[in-house]
Amino acid sequence: MTLHLDYLTLFPEMFGYLHTSILKRAHLSGLITSAVHNMREHATNKHRTVDDKPFGGGVGMVLKPDIAHLALQHLALPTHARILLMTPQGRTFDQAFAKELAKETHLVFLCGHYEGIDERVHQHLVTDEVSIGDYVLTGGELPALSITDAVVRLMPGAVGKAASPQEDSFYHGLLDYPHYTRPASYNGWDVPEILMNGNHAEIEKWRRREALKRTFERRPDLLETAELSASDRKYLAELSAERL
Ligand code: ADE
Repeated sequence: MTLHLDYLTLFPEMFGYLHTSILKRAHLSGLITSAVHNMREHATNKHRTVDDKPFGGGVGMVLKPDIAHLALQHLALPTHARILLMTPQGRTFDQAFAKELAKETHLVFLCGHYEGIDERVHQHLVTDEVSIGDYVLTGGELPALSITDAVVRLMPGAVGKAASPQEDSFYHGLLDYPHYTRPASYNGWDVPEILMNGNHAEIEKWRRREALKRTFERRPDLLETAELSASDRKYLAELSAERL
């Protein structure tokens, strides 16, 4: 099933990323189609104004609701389209959210810029409000592209066999294990012996433990929701005991 992606923005020149690397390949193989739309085309006055001063006073400009509405109407969207508004006030994007969006067939990214977007857009025109983290960017374009990347790489066939998204950090809710390549020894820095003895069962066990150890040390919050086996739990209990 092809995933169609629409972007509503005031800065269409920011979307070159859609045509590089994995997203480029996804277009070429027909896995995704995309269109970038300049919301300024829906400005009605001669100055092509898209934003205005906030009612009640204050600094900055607010994206007008009519502009977003006209831009969305122009897309003539099917009812199943998910309309995602990029905003730091939204639901925080994570790998579980990426998996959810990878099942969709039509995503629309509404990207504001500067101070904000008229609240009526949030209330009446979108299906989801999404944040990529607790920091404020100048606009929703980088969030839209980050989300697109994380979603498309989960689609079957998007990422080559060599690098499977199932192996990615977070896929099973854990941080990734460490990776090494040649040379085996560089500048006195050695690759762990176990990776070079060819015992695949031992290597898998070591990688799993390294992933668990890193997650335990750096992001213990992830262990609450990760998929853990009985032997994972036993190893984590050992790590906890070592700490005491
Ligand atoms: N727009 C500005 N900052 C943002 C963020 N952190 N996430 C989503 N959209 C944004």
